[in-house]
Amino acid sequence: MSKENHYPEFVARFYDVIYDTIRTSVDHDYYLAKMKTSRGPVLEVGVGTGRLFADALKQGVDIYGIDVNQTMLDQLQLRIPASENHRINLADVRDFSLNMKFDLMVAPFRVMSHLLNVEDQLAALRRIKTHLETDGTFIWDVFVPDPVLCSKGLEPTMEFDGFWKEGKKLQRIISVKPEPSRQINHATMRFIWDDDDGKHDETWTFPLHYFYRYEIEHLLQIAGFKIIDLFGDFQEHKLDDTSKDFVVVCGK
Ligand SMILES: C[S@@+](CC[C@H](N)C(=O)[O-])C[C@H]1O[C@@H](n2cnc3c(N)ncnc32)[C@H](O)[C@@H]1O
Repeated sequence: MSKENHYPEFVARFYDVIYDTIRTSVDHDYYLAKMKTSRGPVLEVGVGTGRLFADALKQGVDIYGIDVNQTMLDQLQLRIPASENHRINLADVRDFSLNMKFDLMVAPFRVMSHLLNVEDQLAALRRIKTHLETDGTFIWDVFVPDPVLCSKGLEPTMEFDGFWKEGKKLQRIISVKPEPSRQINHATMRFIWDDDDGKHDETWTFPLHYFYRYEIEHLLQIAGFKIIDLFGDFQEHKLDDTSKDFVVVCGK
C-alpha cells in the first residue's frame, strides 16, 4: 500500500464516532435502499469500518467488502460475527481480483478521491467493471470542489468536539493546504483525546484528489462505463450550482 492512502490506527478507531455524527445522516439511507433492492450480491469498495456495510449485512443484504487498510477492517471485524469474515478482503481497488461478479458495486464517501492520478483512477474503474454483472450498477460519490477551499485552503477548524466514550473527550481539528496544479487538497486532521493513560495528540496528513464534472464523465467513458445518472445529492436531485456531492450512477 502506498503511504498516501494509509489510515493510522487512531483514525480508524475514531472513524465511526465522528462520521456517525457528521456523515451518516447524509448518505446512509440512500446507499442502504440501493443495497436492499439489489437483485444479487453487492460489493462495497473501500468498505472501511463498515459504517454502511454492517447495517446492510444485518438487514439481510448479500454484501462483500474490500479495503486497502487493515486498520479499518480491524474495526469492521469487531462489529460483524466471525462467521461473516469471509465477506471481507484486504485488497486495493486498483488491482483486486475476486472470484465473483456483483449486481451492485458501491464506493461510498469519497473512496475514489484517494486515487490521485488518471492511471490509478482508470485502473480502479477497470477492475470494478470486470467485477460488475452485464446489467449491474456502480454507484459512487465524491465531493464537488469548493473553489475557495481549493485555492485558499482552510485554517485549523474544529470539526468534532465531543466524546468517544463515556467521560472521554475527543476533538478533531481539520486544516487544508491546496495543490491546485494536481487537483489535490492536502488535509491535516489533528486528533486530541483522553484515555485512561492521559491525553493524546496525533496528526494525520493525507492527499485527496478532487474531480470536476466533465472529468468524471470522460474517465467513465474511457473506462467503458455509461453514465446512468449524475445527481447532486443523496435525494437524487439534479446536479446544480449549489451541489456539495457528485453522486454517480453508472453501468456497462
Ligand atoms: C472515507 S473512507 C469511506 C469508508 C466507507 N465506504 C464509508 O462510507 O464509511 C475511504 C475508505 O477507502 C479506503 N481506500 C482508500 N484507498 C483505497 C484503495 N486504493 N483500495 C481500496 N480501498 C481504499 C480507505 O482505506 C477507507 O477505508
